[in-house]
Amino acid sequence: MTTCQEVSRYFDAMAVEWDKGIKESEKDIACKIIQELGMGSKDHVLDVGAGTGLITPFLLQIIDCPQNITAIDISPNMLLLLKTKFPHINTIQGDVHQMPFHDKQFDWVLCCNAFPHFIDQMGFIQEVRRALAVNGKLVIFHTLSRCELECIHRKAHGIPQKASLPSALELADMMERQGFKTICAHEDNQHYKVIGLKD
Ligand SMILES: C[S@@+](CC[C@H](N)C(=O)[O-])C[C@H]1O[C@@H](n2cnc3c(N)ncnc32)[C@H](O)[C@@H]1O
Repeated sequence: MTTCQEVSRYFDAMAVEWDKGIKESEKDIACKIIQELGMGSKDHVLDVGAGTGLITPFLLQIIDCPQNITAIDISPNMLLLLKTKFPHINTIQGDVHQMPFHDKQFDWVLCCNAFPHFIDQMGFIQEVRRALAVNGKLVIFHTLSRCELECIHRKAHGIPQKASLPSALELADMMERQGFKTICAHEDNQHYKVIGLKD
């Protein structure tokens, strides 16, 4: 069985080259998705599986205080690059299945391009629910289609697990089973987005 340590080692090895692999079109999609969420400038936001900070600049355009943005990632090397680029936000090296945050600490939890790598996907959703405030939202999104993602994962060498992404409707169902209300479950040939409300 794959362990979080193996996942961490895999992304540690990928870190230096990571940003080179991100297309401009993916940044545009991430920016648009974030702008359309309707975040408030005083909201507290958690970026899970933040990597090298793909979405950080878009969050900084909306959130007044950088300290209200927290990035968590299990890979020290990915996080080090994020910290170098964005020294003023909070960064935590840790596992999304057991996060070192208080209950109800965040208004938003954003998960960009990371969900398939989480070993216990239901456990992750449950842990996010704990850390979200009432009326907080979990947004799980991808800056490419599920089909493209599967193709990339099939070709990737050494990827440490099956790395599966359920359909948007299946994910919405998983989130509903953990008590979320579905706000959006959409996927097309460019992106993927599921939003759940903790009410
Ligand atoms: C495909 S990358 C996406 C990075 C970034 N969000 C982006 O879109 O460029 C997945 C990230 O999730 C992180 N990750 C995987 N499993 C994790 C876990 N259990 N806890 C925290 N981070 C994890 C990896 O280290 C990696 O940085």
